[in-house]
Amino acid sequence: MSHRKYVLRPETAVLTRGFDPKLSVGSARPAVFRSSTYVFSSPESAARAFDIALGRAKPAPDESVDLIYSRLAHPNAQILEDQVVPLERDAADAAVFNSGMAAISSVFLTFCPPGSTVVHTTPLYGGTQLLLDSMMTPLGVKAVTAAAGDTQGLAAAIALAKGLKLVFLETPANPTLTMTDIAAAVQAARAHPDRPLVVVDNTFLGPSFQHPLTLGADLCVYSATKYLNGFSDLLAGLVLAKNGELVTQLRGTRAVLGNILQPDECWLLNTRLPTVPLRMNKQSKSAQRLAEAVHGHRAVAKVHYPTLFEDQEQQRIRDAQCDYPGGIVTLELKGGRPAAFTFLRSLRIFHNAVSLGGVESLACHPRTTTHSEMTVEQLDAAGITEGLVRLSTGIESWHDLLVDVKGALDAAA
Ligand SMILES: Cc1ncc(COP(=O)(O)O)c(C=O)c1O
Repeated sequence: MSHRKYVLRPETAVLTRGFDPKLSVGSARPAVFRSSTYVFSSPESAARAFDIALGRAKPAPDESVDLIYSRLAHPNAQILEDQVVPLERDAADAAVFNSGMAAISSVFLTFCPPGSTVVHTTPLYGGTQLLLDSMMTPLGVKAVTAAAGDTQGLAAAIALAKGLKLVFLETPANPTLTMTDIAAAVQAARAHPDRPLVVVDNTFLGPSFQHPLTLGADLCVYSATKYLNGFSDLLAGLVLAKNGELVTQLRGTRAVLGNILQPDECWLLNTRLPTVPLRMNKQSKSAQRLAEAVHGHRAVAKVHYPTLFEDQEQQRIRDAQCDYPGGIVTLELKGGRPAAFTFLRSLRIFHNAVSLGGVESLACHPRTTTHSEMTVEQLDAAGITEGLVRLSTGIESWHDLLVDVKGALDAAA
């Protein structure tokens, strides 16, 4: 292989691309650029920068365009967006937002005009469901649901939809871990005359273990608050695409809504990117050990975890689209809410908190917290029962975590 053609692997590229020390007085790691506004190199360059920012002109391939104002773009966002791309297989560009919800709402507001239809899997993260119910529906966007994992039902919902602009999949679904076949949804979307975009919320398994863009999805969205950051100390969102034009449109929405991630947060998130695969691998290994060890415990009715899937369709989807099972384990306890609450109260290492993907282990009761926006009917249909607890495995010793979980299960039994 000639040197010129050699393509760096993701764990190298994440550390080497997108940052030029010469632009930061030689510092080996990026500096923080906190300025809200940028001095133009000339009035002509200012006019040119505005022409490009407002879509009146396209930049030449190697053109260096002046920065304008931090709501549109700033160096730390640009460095982060360049450096995150190699982590997402087949991505060409990325846009960073100030939370996962900012990323998701910007996707809906950009690509779903009034009168259009969205087909989405259910359950969805409670905030995404609330966005659809309380904002998109009143704006005239029709939301059609298909149960996560129902490959044929989803294909039928896509085929029947009129004015279909977006197919939104959350897989694995939060908190049940039910998987939806991304490639089959892409096939159904491509067969639809409206050629809707397929968007995957890849927060639970991406970017290390699931690669939606490779399977044909148009956009990958993230709560980067979770595994990408990994330390539960900032909020961030990302959208990645194979087609950079879609990201350019999202940056336009972001400039209007003002929901770009701030320089300090971009810098911090950027420092966490090189360790994403290391952390996710460790979290997945520990979670698998926990899930398989508590399977069969007398307090547990069911363990929701990819290596323990019993349904053949779920096993097929898992094997087709996931490299590893991931760091989230959901337990269905036999004693309903009292058992779930006793379990949460009895944990010593896992903290009872929402969120996931951090180096510290967390546990929560989705029905009364993260998914409490859903109606009782929606919760029951999605299997988010009174006895369900969601565990996010950190990077502590799995031996200690297992002792903690077993002790709390004994208390709940
Ligand atoms: C799957 C999923 N998507 C999106 C979000 C929203 O992300 P954020 O809290 O960063 O706005 C979350 C948050 O828990 C989530 O779990």
